[in-house]
Amino acid sequence: MNRCTQVVILGAGPSGLLLSHLLALRGVESVVLELRTRDYVASRIRAGVLEHGTVELLHEAGLGARALREGFVHEGVELAGSDGSFRVDFRARTGKAVTIYGQTELQKDLFRARDEANGVVIDEVSDVRIHDADTRAPSVTCTKDGESFTVRADFVAGCDGHHGVSRAAIPAPVLHTYERVYPFGWLGILSETPPVSDELIYSGHERGFALCSMRNPALSRYYVQCALGESPDAWSDARFWDELRARLPREAAERLVTGPSIEKSVTPLRSFIAEPMRFGSLFLAGDAAHIVPPTGAKGLNLAVRDVALLAAALTAFYGERTETLLDAYSNDALAGVWKAVRFSWWMTNLLHRYDADDDFARRLKRAELAYLRGSLAAQTVFAENYVGLAR
Ligand code: APR
Ligand code: PHB
Repeated sequence: MNRCTQVVILGAGPSGLLLSHLLALRGVESVVLELRTRDYVASRIRAGVLEHGTVELLHEAGLGARALREGFVHEGVELAGSDGSFRVDFRARTGKAVTIYGQTELQKDLFRARDEANGVVIDEVSDVRIHDADTRAPSVTCTKDGESFTVRADFVAGCDGHHGVSRAAIPAPVLHTYERVYPFGWLGILSETPPVSDELIYSGHERGFALCSMRNPALSRYYVQCALGESPDAWSDARFWDELRARLPREAAERLVTGPSIEKSVTPLRSFIAEPMRFGSLFLAGDAAHIVPPTGAKGLNLAVRDVALLAAALTAFYGERTETLLDAYSNDALAGVWKAVRFSWWMTNLLHRYDADDDFARRLKRAELAYLRGSLAAQTVFAENYVGLAR
């Protein structure tokens, strides 16, 4: 069962599977190790907005066909506040758009692509440990079906999410982390109802934030800001729909079609960044290195950017025998990460209700939305961040 490969990848989420796919396209071998079952990984419900650059990358990697067929191109978004709502036109401001395509679907596409290429993805492993990360001969040990085995490699890619073991393998004196925990969560539901609008609506209402999103013309995804640690059980469907309606612009509230929820969950909001994203032969990518609040849907897009950089750096190592890109990886990735951290923090602050907000703070948020509404320059800033900055 022991194995030898070029890159051992921890985690079969979007980061890990996309990395193994990009490496395989360029002739670099990898083995992916995943803690959970494949079905569990493939059924997690996450955000569903792909940036312009993410879609381009998926197409270049031969992974974009279903997203093109079944995804929805959105050329703008509606922003609402207590003074009414307005649209930001992405196409007019930036020449670009985003694609609505659930991460769950992308995850399935990635598993299929790895299977078609006979990629090695070993799920349900436990007791995963990284050894000798500070040397040129790292390895990972783990257990599968009661048997332990070792994977030796040139590099370890830590794509094992926020709770994985990779980040913890970087010694404390080397690792610097930054964190902001927001004092609220999002209660999200999926319902088999037509979306209230053709585009997303982000509403910064006095009662709290609300978001109308979708998966397809018959499946809606809605969120309302809720108290931290609140149980989804405290929210009957009727309570959810009433609260959502109360937080939407009047025309949207009147159009809203309600129905039973088929999924309901609470997500805490936080920003978290670990620096550096490299320690010796270990490279972190995606949620293992950073978390952003879902406002603006940057999480998956950041993971894709990390992995694109890392795949290019590893390919250059094997192809041209240069380590320049590997050495630049952490700084290059973090430069983009911090910009997305800033944007999602800004958007979260602007649109959420904080109990600690006084009249001054509330009035400032109204002024900021009014400025965004009235200034094409401000809308360009918003739009270029939303569709994704080049780096
Ligand atoms: N060994 C192997 N795999 C592990 C380990 C471990 N010790 N610990 C966790 N994992 C697995 C998890 O079970 C999960 O399937 O690593 C995977 C990490 O996947 P994600 O959490 O989806 O992280 P990532 O692939 O970086 O994707 C980022 O997912 O969380 C969203 O907002 C985020 O959309 C972004 C995207
Ligand atoms: C979603 O569709 O789940 C979604 C969309 C936009 C966000 C967050 C989540 O900002």
